[in-house]
This record gives sequence, structure tokens and C-alpha cells, in this order.
Amino acid sequence: MGRRSGDSQGDGGGVTGGRPDTKLVHGGRRKEWRGRLVNPPVHRGSTLLFDTVAEMRSAAPEFGKPYYGLHGSPTHWALAEALTELEPGAAGTTLHPNGLAAVTAALLSVLSAGDELLMTDSVYGPTRRFCDAFLKRYGVATRYYDPLVGAGIAGLIGERTRAIFLESPGSLTMEVQDLPAICAAAKARGVATLLDNTWATPLLFPALAAGVDISILAGTKYVGGHADVMLGSATASAEYYPKLERTSWDLGQSVSPDDAWLCSRGLRTMGVRLRRHESSALAIARWLKQQPQVAAVLQPALPDCPGHALWARDFKGASGLFSFVLKGGDDSGRVRFVEALELFGLGYSWGGYESLVVPADPERLRTATRWEAEGPLVRLQIGLEDPDDLIEDLAAGLRRWEEAA
Ligand SMILES: Cc1ncc(COP(=O)(O)O)c(C=O)c1O
Repeated sequence: MGRRSGDSQGDGGGVTGGRPDTKLVHGGRRKEWRGRLVNPPVHRGSTLLFDTVAEMRSAAPEFGKPYYGLHGSPTHWALAEALTELEPGAAGTTLHPNGLAAVTAALLSVLSAGDELLMTDSVYGPTRRFCDAFLKRYGVATRYYDPLVGAGIAGLIGERTRAIFLESPGSLTMEVQDLPAICAAAKARGVATLLDNTWATPLLFPALAAGVDISILAGTKYVGGHADVMLGSATASAEYYPKLERTSWDLGQSVSPDDAWLCSRGLRTMGVRLRRHESSALAIARWLKQQPQVAAVLQPALPDCPGHALWARDFKGASGLFSFVLKGGDDSGRVRFVEALELFGLGYSWGGYESLVVPADPERLRTATRWEAEGPLVRLQIGLEDPDDLIEDLAAGLRRWEEAA
């Protein structure tokens, strides 16, 4: 849905050069798609009409060419092209109904019956479930590996290994992986690498330039940015993009033009939002680290986080999602803490403008490694509120936790 095109239309159109913040503003806004409007409008439609039978017969689904609703409209192409342009080395981007759909389509585009997948043990729970239930049923074996394995991944690649899936930092426990080392080992053996890059986005970690073959985003999070849309994307190199596009069409995955439009709108401000998420999250993480009720803060920018040195080497910044461990206590104390918070909504997802909290139990999601901590874990999504207000709210929650302990 999003092949890179050299068809520049001048002002605000076609492939944009410039630095990432400039690409965020100008990417995908070709004049042929937006007319005289600043933003390409919402194009609704299932059927696109041909003028003649000859035209119909010679047409084929292709990025940027009207064919059928499944294969996109200018609203979709504008978003896909903007995402492609953010990843140096990318050939194109497919759009999916949500982040999980992007993960599953990307996996299905590189795996067949009889293959083995190497999967990080810190992966997002529903991705794990897809491997253990769905892929297994279709004859694909999944072997989980320690997210901190680094170059040691070479020793795990077997005859049947066709793909390595990475997520960095990992869900809930935030381990940072040695992505360049793992990608280099994979390339040496002709194995595909897929990264769930939702936490960093291409702004904080340009994945294809680091050697990743397919970079996946849950656009539901920072791209949309307002907790009002679900969407996924997968951006791939020239070798993998055609397989990804074919698989996405074969699975019949399409995205509402309204949702694509909302994500295009969100994308324009993603850079400024991410910087605010980062500064607030770091202020709060550092404050939490000093609290006597907190055993550890798992935020990649802080040394407590496993793989922190890799984050410092490879990433351009941190986003607003991190976890911390309470000093002892049980789930009932954690529930009291969480329910005492007034500014943090209790709900799944993250990346929107508002702060969220989730009590989570990573030990239930591990098979290759063990998760052990001094107390229960809490995940925070730091939104765009004033960080001092968020700190006051957390302080009140910790007092509540202590009273009940
Ligand atoms: C790391 C990560 N990847 C993928 C997803 C799935 O995205 P979506 O909710 O859009 O399906 C999530 C959702 O929370 C996530 O946290």
C-alpha cells in the first residue's frame, strides 16, 4: 500500500527530503492526492469505476493506482508513503486494521509450514498467543529466546529458522535488545528480522537502517496519539515489501479511510508529542527511583533497565511508556495504589495524550527466561499532562499503598 515513489510534485508532494521532523510534516502530501487542500481528504469507496473493459483488464493492484477499495485510496497512500519516508532504506509500507494485525500479517509473509520462528521472550502477550496457538496449528514452530541474548542468537539459528522477531524495549519488562548484532547474525544466515518498533517509532529508532527487514508499528499508539483510532503498519525493505503487500491483500486486510486520515493527522505532531512524553516520563522515572516504596524503575534511559547501555548506544531518545516495581507487598497493595490514582486512567493501550496505568504480571508470559522481582510490577504511560501533577498523583498513590502495607 505504500511503495516509495520518486514522483515529486514540488511543494508538499512526493518524496520529501529533510530531517525527520520535516518529513513528519511534508511526507505523503502529494498534490495529486490533496489537490489544493493542505491534507489529503478522506476518500470513501469500495468500487472504483473503469472507463472501458480494456482499462479494467489491463489494470492490476498497485500502490498509488485506483483498482479496488482493498488496495487503498489516496487517503491510505498518503499515510503509507509518509511512514515509508521516515525509514531510510524502506521500499514501502502496508497498513493494517490494528497493531496486532500488522504483526500477524508480517509473520505470515515470511513463514511457511515446517519453518521455525525465533521469538523474544519479552514479546507483547497477544503476539505470543498468535505464535503458540495459530502458527503452531499451521505447522510453524516458535522457539523463545532471552531478549538479552545479543550476538549469541547465532547459536540458536537452526536449519529450519526462517525469521527472528524482536521487540525492543520488551513489553512490560522493557529489556533493550542488541538489534544490530541480532540483525547481523540473521543476515549472515539468510533469516528475516521483524521488529515491533511501536515504543520507539522510526523517530527514536530508524529500524531498517539498523538492519531490520520489516519494522512494525501499532499506529494505535504514538502515530494516532489520541486514543481514538486503531491501526497498524509494517514498513519493509525492497526484498520483503512485495511479500508483505501480497500477504496483506490475500488476508483481505483493509483500513477505514477515516482511520488512515486520523493517523495521518496524528503523525504530523508525533515529533513534538514524543519529546514531551520523553521529558515528562524521565522526570517521573527519576522521581520514582528516589521513592522508598519503589524497588526498581524499568525505563530504558535509566541504568536499572536491562540493556540500558544498548539504548544509550542505539536509540535517539525515550518515549513515555515504562514500568516500575513496588518494594514488596502483594497484589492487593498494588490494587490500592492503582485505584488511588486520579490522573492515570486504568486501561490497556498507550501512546495517547493521556496518562494510563496497568498492573501487570510478566512471570505469566515467560518460557525461556524467568521474571523475578522484589514486588508487583506497575506499567505507566506518561501522557501530556503537567508532570508535577502526575508526580503528586503518584505520591498520593504510594502513600495509600504504604498505609495499607
Ligand atoms: C508493543 C505492542 N505491540 C503491538 C500492540 C498491538 O497494537 P493494537 O492494540 O493496535 O492491536 C500493542 C498493544 O498494546 C503493543 O503494546
